[in-house]
Amino acid sequence: MSETTPDLEKQIAILKQQLAQAQKMTALGELVSTTTHEFNNVLMTIINYAKLGLRYKDDASRVKAFEKILAAGQRASKITNSVLGVARNRSDAFEPTDLCSLVEESLVLLEREFNKYRIQVDKQLGKVPEVIANANQIQQVLLNLLINARQAIKERGQVLIKVEHDESAQTVDLIVRDNGAGIPAEKLRRIFDPFFSTKVGPDETGKGGTGLGLSSCRDIIDAHRGKIRVESTVGKGTCFTIKLPAAKKTAARVSLVTPTMSTNATPSETR
Ligand SMILES: Nc1ncnc2c1ncn2[C@@H]1O[C@H](COP(=O)(O)OP(=O)(O)OP(=O)(O)O)[C@@H](O)[C@H]1O
Ligand SMILES: [Mg+2]
Repeated sequence: MSETTPDLEKQIAILKQQLAQAQKMTALGELVSTTTHEFNNVLMTIINYAKLGLRYKDDASRVKAFEKILAAGQRASKITNSVLGVARNRSDAFEPTDLCSLVEESLVLLEREFNKYRIQVDKQLGKVPEVIANANQIQQVLLNLLINARQAIKERGQVLIKVEHDESAQTVDLIVRDNGAGIPAEKLRRIFDPFFSTKVGPDETGKGGTGLGLSSCRDIIDAHRGKIRVESTVGKGTCFTIKLPAAKKTAARVSLVTPTMSTNATPSETR
């Protein structure tokens, strides 16, 4: 036993590293499929409305054509900004990070998928301080939560993403709430366990089913000295709250702060 344990631990460490790598690829895969599809759509829109504007000389048609071309161009620019955002975030460093832009960038990646399932996304992005974070990892957490929310809703529904400042706890809170199926109490206890999944396998978008999503979310939030907790009601929906330490205003840029977290645990807290 005493010989196998360190071996096992080593293997687990290696597997965890591989998982983190694979999850990075999720964001990248999302990006590649979004950009190729969306750029094609955007180009088609631009070409067709430019043709329409040339064909019909009246003001109304031309204004409409220009508006459509402008909207398509703006969408393309949003996508390229997200690509640049992800590329910028490739480093492993923990640095002052704006959670609101991270939410915007992550949503661009899933916009097409949410539209496909007719899921409305509401954003409430308040004015918040930066957090000391690895943007790449927090983006993975966001993608995991948003994909779970989408899968819990199946078709039609709402997802709310909120970013707010909890001044008394000195945290920036990220809230992802859905009005999907909800989680019964006996399962709620297990959702952060590695390999716990109620999904039969990947869905038609190729996502879900390994049961590692939330377990890696928790590892990532732990590494950020944050907290992740969940509340859920069957038939009503689920709400995940992530609390990340706010960066101290002046010291933040030069050193990694080790903040103290609020300790008033709620029953649904995972740790
Ligand atoms: N927003 C949600 N609404 C309802 N159930 C959820 C929600 N998020 C997670 N769950 C439940 O928790 C389980 C574990 O989630 P987790 O993300 O860890 O794994 P998964 O989504 O099944 O697979 P993957 O590793 O591919 O993400 C899910 O199978 C599901 O039953
Ligand atoms: Mg998942």
